[in-house]
Amino acid sequence: MMEGSRSGSELYFFFFFATLFSLLLLLLCFGGTAAADYYGGRGSNIGVNWGTMSTHQLPPERVVEMLVANKFPKLKLFEFDEQIMTALLETDIEVMLAIPNYMLRTMAEDRHAAKAWVEANVTDWCFHGGVNVKYVAVGNEPFLQTYNGTFDKYTLPALRNIQNALNKAGVGHKVKATVPFNADVYNSPESDQVPSAGDFRPEVKDLTLEIIQFLHSNDAPFTVNIYPFLSLYGNPYFPVDFAFFDDATNTNKPIKDGDLLYTNVFDANFDTLVWSLTKSGYPDMPIIVGEVGWPTDGDLHATVENAKRFNQGLLKHIVDGNGTPARPVNKIEVFLFSLIDENGKSVAPGNFERHWGIFEYDGKPKYELDLNGYGEDTGLIAVDGVNYMERRWCVLRPDAIDLSDLSKSMDYACGLSDCTALEYGCSCNHLSVAGNASYAFNMYYQMNGQKDWGCDFSGLGLITMEDPSDGDCLFPVMIADVGSGATAVVLRVWWRVLVLVLIVMMML
Ligand SMILES: *[C@@H]1O[C@H](CO)[C@@H](O)[C@H](O)[C@H]1NC(C)=O
Ligand SMILES: *[C@@H]1O[C@H](CO)[C@@H](O)[C@H](O)[C@H]1NC(C)=O
Ligand SMILES: *[C@@H]1O[C@H](CO)[C@@H](O)[C@H](O)[C@H]1NC(C)=O
Repeated sequence: MMEGSRSGSELYFFFFFATLFSLLLLLLCFGGTAAADYYGGRGSNIGVNWGTMSTHQLPPERVVEMLVANKFPKLKLFEFDEQIMTALLETDIEVMLAIPNYMLRTMAEDRHAAKAWVEANVTDWCFHGGVNVKYVAVGNEPFLQTYNGTFDKYTLPALRNIQNALNKAGVGHKVKATVPFNADVYNSPESDQVPSAGDFRPEVKDLTLEIIQFLHSNDAPFTVNIYPFLSLYGNPYFPVDFAFFDDATNTNKPIKDGDLLYTNVFDANFDTLVWSLTKSGYPDMPIIVGEVGWPTDGDLHATVENAKRFNQGLLKHIVDGNGTPARPVNKIEVFLFSLIDENGKSVAPGNFERHWGIFEYDGKPKYELDLNGYGEDTGLIAVDGVNYMERRWCVLRPDAIDLSDLSKSMDYACGLSDCTALEYGCSCNHLSVAGNASYAFNMYYQMNGQKDWGCDFSGLGLITMEDPSDGDCLFPVMIADVGSGATAVVLRVWWRVLVLVLIVMMML
């Protein structure tokens, strides 16, 4: 009797664990397919760059929910970030993960460091339901002229060590290392500004070709950042409409290049690269546009209207799938720049640097953008559940009398916050002297987390509950600092376990 009962319970437990095990397997498999179906449906192929140089970050898991809700299939990150990677678990979003320039030297000189980087930051995340890393971007525009050649000798060895580490780890067939280049590694001569006259810039030509050779031997793409906005910004004689894609309103004569006609600078730039590659013996080299976009503030041409006009035109152009005049059958792969405004970026290139986002600092879309390319005002979905600080602002005391310290206080506040919107051609350039001071005080106060000491300014500052925003000039209230908000991710990863426990309880 006792014997029988024991063997019965053993059988029961065997059955129990076998069921548990098969259920676990089943659930793991179904989770993956569900995610794949989700992205398979709609055809947008548009990726986006998510830069994080902001004083206050939105919770990564909220941003990832927004990416999923808007069906962004691809994402580019400028540096590995554990919180962001954790938030991306189970999403199927294709990721290009960058190694910042400051690490290039180490990656170039130390094979083991490259191997460790690949292991910790890529392969450890490559599991079913992990993060879908597809590219590693080695450096960011390392041959930019302002770097004075600092990264020239490290870029190729770093690329080599990273790709070799990926190959050795057994993921080289699906994870490719590439180098995002600035578009000035190639150009057309001043005398003959057509794409077919293009070639790589002589100073970097040999190096670039060595890199291309290596990329080619690994079936990896050439990555380039193309900025029509900068063509316009850097040249007052640049024909404005040529920066955009809507050639119906393009009053300029198209550029003729042999039999090919160019109606926008993006295509002309892209094809200058195509010709440069062709002349070097790589006519079929795949090209990824690693960054392309338009800022909304910080310059006369940086407006919401122009940004929408450019980005929507670009998306339609990509989705139409007609490629460029020199590569007419190529569906261009692009990553928009950028997702969210970054108030911590250097303004050395221009005040527009902090205003590239399709979304505001707080995750609200700045304008309608149809990611499917057709220009329907379907509306982007905002980041949900954002916590703001209290609705409080710091302004110049209206009854302030002694203003002798005002400009000193303003300079101080602007130096440690972001006053780019005050500049010529920007959204807050119409403010009075007092308005300027209030704007500067408030930015400093908000970026310092609304601490009382952040609104002193030798007694000139005053905290108010009344929104001082003025027309298009927004006086922001900062978002609250991110706590440890990983709950959503933990839930997403563990829901299967919960389901399992429920099933088991029902069985009992
Ligand atoms: C992974 O990337 C982060 C961020 O760039 C870096 O700090 C870290 O050292 C990398 N891990 C390894 C093992 O190299
Ligand atoms: C590049 O060189 C110029 C002129 O020599 C110098 O002013 C600048 O700081 C250098 N930049 C870097 C990144 O080293
Ligand atoms: C406000 O500040 C901006 C940027 O410094 C300046 O261009 C503008 O002239 C100022 N406005 C007034 C009324 O002083």
